[in-house]
Amino acid sequence: MKILFDKKTIQKRVAQLGREISNYYKKTPFVCLIILKGSFVFGADLIRAIESDSLEIDFIKLSSYSGRHSTGVVDLKDELSKFRGKNLLLVEDIVDTGATLSFFMKKLEEYSPASVKVCSLLEKKEINRGKVKIDFLGFDVGDDFIVGYGLDYNEKFRNIADLVVYEG
Ligand code: IMP
Ligand code: MG
Repeated sequence: MKILFDKKTIQKRVAQLGREISNYYKKTPFVCLIILKGSFVFGADLIRAIESDSLEIDFIKLSSYSGRHSTGVVDLKDELSKFRGKNLLLVEDIVDTGATLSFFMKKLEEYSPASVKVCSLLEKKEINRGKVKIDFLGFDVGDDFIVGYGLDYNEKFRNIADLVVYEG
């Protein structure tokens, strides 16, 4: 499988994102809401690159993928009411069609968080085409299917340290 971004490159970019996010929120309390499962590796690195004394971490499991095709169907398994009045930073591994995040963000609105920002490690810009606005982006990628660094193909390859192109 072809390496798209090696671990050194990822590490550098994640450190920059952490600085951008720290500068943006400064002393404002916020919640990093890590979207499982794909973002668990990225999220773990990102939160340690953020400087804040009032950062809270939470998780939610959304899934819209079956094999290589986005179905746009999302399962909400957690309670959202605890986010009322909170500043939320959604941490996503990859925004492809934008279906998952736009559905979720619409759902979130019903629970009136104080603010919602998005940090995604990867974006397929040509496919998302601005449907979901990403406030903090790691890398823009093409239409390849990407695995590694937490991203899977049918639950496999999450353990690869680099971001690689799946050639099945
Ligand atoms: P969307 O709803 O089409 O934006 O897809 C978003 C979700 O699909 C992400 O959170 C990923 O879990 C998954 N996904 C989309 N593209 C890829 C990919 O290239 N590799 C692995 N997972 C992907
Ligand atoms: Mg995901």
